[in-house]
Amino acid sequence: MPSEVLLPQIVEKIKGPIALAFSYQAEDVAALHLLLQCGIADLEVFTLDTLKLFPEIFSYHKELEDFFRITIKKYAPDPEEVKDLEAKLGDEWGMRASLENRHLCCQVRKVTPLGKILAGKSAWVTGLRASQSVTRQDLKVLEYDEKFGLIKINPLFDWDEEDLSAYIKEHRLPLNPLYAKGFTSIGCAPCTRAVQPGEDIRAGRWWWENPEHKECGLHLRKN
Ligand code: ADX
Ligand code: SF4
Repeated sequence: MPSEVLLPQIVEKIKGPIALAFSYQAEDVAALHLLLQCGIADLEVFTLDTLKLFPEIFSYHKELEDFFRITIKKYAPDPEEVKDLEAKLGDEWGMRASLENRHLCCQVRKVTPLGKILAGKSAWVTGLRASQSVTRQDLKVLEYDEKFGLIKINPLFDWDEEDLSAYIKEHRLPLNPLYAKGFTSIGCAPCTRAVQPGEDIRAGRWWWENPEHKECGLHLRKN
């Protein structure tokens, strides 16, 4: 069943607030467009502002708010926790020094804030796709998120890259300017690089790690 049909049926059954986790990637733009067609009364669109995002994001944020006529709420990590983290990591590239450091940085800047945002929500929506990575192969449209204790909806779960770009084109949705600079997956600036033609779409994320480690803890899955 196409997401345009499936998603309204799912959200209709959910009582209470729904949140869309927005990371400025094409998937999130498509998920946002789909969600706005559902007429959800209590929808929050939020981004985890890790304070390490690319500078291009600032103007794109404004462009999206104007285009969709919505507010994308930014949540920053706790300043005290960031201070401790920075002391532990040593320098601005310390998250690359070990898997432990990288996980700690993602925990403080993304996972802990996400837990606070999702408390009190009935469901959260993501732009995850199963074909993105080995860690996402068994993704479902509707899941119970045990880590955060609420329903998780992945409306693009079975979309491939062609489905995504066709949707973006059909609805003329604004894309993150980083795609035009060779990025195919977009996260924090110190941990994301552009890719070469033929490389895997997530090759530029935490490129120094093995593919099975390339998760930041937002999407804990039992494989
Ligand atoms: S990650 O785990 O590797 O960082 P990825 O970048 O593929 O995740 O994004 C998958 C989905 O997670 C996005 O579509 C979005 O729903 C959510 N997400 C990732 N990063 C953020 C962020 N900084 N703020 C809000 N949501 C995010
Ligand atoms: Fe830190 Fe990199 Fe994780 Fe961003 S992606 S929170 S900079 S380790």
